[in-house]
Amino acid sequence: MCGIVGGVAERNISNILIEGLKRLEYRGYDSAGLALINQGQILRERRVGKVVNLEQAVLDAQLNGSLGIAHTRWATHGKPTENNAHPHISGNVAVVHNGIIENYQELKDQLETLGYIFTSQTDTEVVAHLVNDALKSTPSLLEAVRLVVPKLKGAYALGIIHTDHPDELITVREGSPLVIGVGIGENFISSDQLALLPITNRFIYLEEGDIARLTRTTIEVFVDGQLVERPITELDATVTNASKGRYKHYMLKEIYEQPEAIKQTISQALNGNALREDFLANANDQFKNIQQIQIIACGTSYHAGMIAKYWCEQLIDLPCQVEIASEFRYRSPVIVNQTLYLCISQSGETADTLAALRDIQKRAVSKHLDITTMAICNVATSSMVRETNYSLLTLAGPEIGVASTKAFTTQLAALMLLVLKIGTVKQTITAEQVSQLIADLWHIPKILLDTLQNNNEILALSELFVEKQHCLFLGRGTHFPIALEGALKLKEISYIHAEGYAAGELKHGPLALVDNEMPVVILAPKDDMLDKLKSNMEEVQARGGELFVFADENSGIKSKDRQHVVNVPTVHPTLAPIVYSIPIQLLSYHVAVLRGTDVDQPRNLAKSVTVE
Ligand code: AGP
Repeated sequence: MCGIVGGVAERNISNILIEGLKRLEYRGYDSAGLALINQGQILRERRVGKVVNLEQAVLDAQLNGSLGIAHTRWATHGKPTENNAHPHISGNVAVVHNGIIENYQELKDQLETLGYIFTSQTDTEVVAHLVNDALKSTPSLLEAVRLVVPKLKGAYALGIIHTDHPDELITVREGSPLVIGVGIGENFISSDQLALLPITNRFIYLEEGDIARLTRTTIEVFVDGQLVERPITELDATVTNASKGRYKHYMLKEIYEQPEAIKQTISQALNGNALREDFLANANDQFKNIQQIQIIACGTSYHAGMIAKYWCEQLIDLPCQVEIASEFRYRSPVIVNQTLYLCISQSGETADTLAALRDIQKRAVSKHLDITTMAICNVATSSMVRETNYSLLTLAGPEIGVASTKAFTTQLAALMLLVLKIGTVKQTITAEQVSQLIADLWHIPKILLDTLQNNNEILALSELFVEKQHCLFLGRGTHFPIALEGALKLKEISYIHAEGYAAGELKHGPLALVDNEMPVVILAPKDDMLDKLKSNMEEVQARGGELFVFADENSGIKSKDRQHVVNVPTVHPTLAPIVYSIPIQLLSYHVAVLRGTDVDQPRNLAKSVTVE
């Protein structure tokens, strides 16, 4: 999604803005631009493609200035062209924008009748013209922005500068993330703190509706024209460590970080083979009362939620529904008393999940319902964590690769902790069961390390996928969501069309696709469904399909003609989905590398989907 960086300083900030944009590249984008104010002029460069293209243009033009805004654009309105790239200029005003102005057409029509000429197809350009127009009635840039904001419908974060205000950066947050990086004698803004980590570890997280004015030495935040206090948060090194290290891609590094990430995530809640007394203790009363769980999430986080549904039902006898946020939010859901509404999100900023959460809260208030909201999230400072009653953090560290890996497996670990916690409070699980599962959970990091040893074997198999156009992933029970996740991983980074199916559904349609060109990936842990899964494998083989089986080392499944088996260490069947995530991640990674795609920033995708 679009990324914003801006700053006001004493020194030239062009390098800082470019470095910031590079650090936002992981979010996904198709063009980039930068504008600086220098001696009463706006100096602007914009380029299609990578930030390095912009960097070269800025170097060639020798742009410098101590007040500026920069942007990576992920096209929504208008193609990825230079004219559509931000910043957009109207008169002496330059604007960068993340989000969508939903009523831009109406505003554009009005502005055109006033004589404003549009040079792009974007929704953003209306904001530049509106601020320019508002400056006819006030000399204050802040006031002009305040006059414009009520006219805008949609979700947006803005950075705005003006040639007559060379020490002033105005920013607005309404539905799209924005942080202020607090420096010494200089201040910055960005859509993600990661962009500013080389400059500062002190941040102000703006709230919805905040308008802020930054100068080199001051930061003022306003709500409805009134000055408000926003705390400064200081981040520690674990949050800020986001380099690729010795790995070729962030994704590979993040795959290998999973044993440690799981250890960190479970350690916060466990004391030996028991849950810590203080783990989510402030939610005990709510957990005691809940009658069901409704999970809302998108993409990979949704798959984690699907697995949690099996766990809730099997382990603690609690009904659990899971729904994709983009569907949930638009189907007038009936909000039910004594329900735990659980949002799962790596970023905590996903537009659909956030909107669903806000809608649930609104409906619950209007009907005086007693509900509880909670987030499982990897970003402690995210909107979702701040806007829910309770949160459980996945301690995975920053995930940069667009394809989610360690965020997913730590979500599973966190979900298991939550299920054990709720079952304990509601007394629907015995202390022995809890202690056994926790003991098995402690073994998971070591089992993941052993599973990672299969890397070379999986690399060799991935060569057989390079020329393929399609692929099927099959699993049963909690490995049906892993099949979906495998297909999502493969399609998003290798661009091979892949589908995940519950193996039992095979004969109800997808079997028609199977021929000797169709690779079929099977997830075969040693659980109650193994014999049924073996029958499904026979069905595929009988139609000439080639099987790639990730199987428990004691499953009895062996390699043979057109059946390639990778042994996975034996694991408690309940926790197996955490372990079987590793081979599907490695397979997708290696296939993508062999096909030469942009593994960490696959085409058309964004890390944090902050627009719907
Ligand atoms: C997964 O590999 C994806 N990139 C994507 O499906 C992601 O999980 C989804 O956009 C949800 O993001 P979130 O966890 O930050 O809410």
